[in-house]
This record gives sequence, C-alpha cells and structure tokens, in this order.
Amino acid sequence: SQPVKSRDEKLLELCTLLNEKVSYYNWVGFYFADHETRTLHLGPYVGAPTDHTVIPFGKGICGQVAESNTNFVVPDVSAQDNYIACSFTVKSEIVVPLFVRGQNMGQIDIDSHVLDPFSEADERFLEFVNQEVAKLF
Ligand code: SME
Repeated sequence: SQPVKSRDEKLLELCTLLNEKVSYYNWVGFYFADHETRTLHLGPYVGAPTDHTVIPFGKGICGQVAESNTNFVVPDVSAQDNYIACSFTVKSEIVVPLFVRGQNMGQIDIDSHVLDPFSEADERFLEFVNQEVAKLF
C-alpha cells in the first residue's frame, strides 16, 4: 500500500506540477497567515530558495494580499514600490488568497521570468486550485 501523504507533501507535489506544466510559473509556493502575529510564513514551494520566509502583513505583494483578501496581479514588478524582490530574474508575480471557511488563511504565490504573462484565466484557475487546497484544511 502507498504511504499516506501529509498535507505539505501534497502541496509540494502541487507546486511541482504547476511549475512543470506552466512554462511561465517559475516559482510556485504557499504562504500561510498567522493572524496573531500578523505575519505570513513560507510553506511548501518550488523554485529558487528565498530569504523571505516570514513576511509581515502589509509588506510586499504577499503582505498586501493578506490584508486586501483579493487577487494581486503584477505584470511588471519593477513598477511596484511595495514589493519584496526575491530574485533579479523575476519579472512578474501573481498572488491569490486561500480562503478556508471564509477566512484568509494564506495564499498561492507565483513568480514569472516573463513580463506580463498572467491573464484572467490564470486568476480563475488559481482560485479553483485554492478551493481544492482549502479542502485539505
Ligand atoms: N515578491 C513577494 C515576496 C515573496 S517572493 O516572491 C517568493 C512580495 O513582494 O510579497
């Protein structure tokens, strides 16, 4: 029989699949919210290692989504002033909040090496992905 996979193992497989199947999904990861300390904490991810494992609410694209509860599509990161750079190869970013029983629990964060690659189809797709992820909680 197959060993039972933990939630983090499933999320890592999901990140790997998204990174492999979508050419412009070059860094794919989850951040999870700690509402007590108002910080985001890096969960499973694939792509270049990042120093930004803890992000305060309000800071960067991720921190803004923790407060806004809405998708944030950044076609060109160089045009953002409240942005946390992880790698100079990153040109664009999309962050979609993860809702569990109505609460913003965190987000899926995707960086791209391509300028302006994200469409409304990516938003709808990642909202669907997060609805499936929410079932793991
Ligand atoms: N660029 C993000 C930080 C996380 S890294 O992309 C992995 C931001 O501005 O919040």
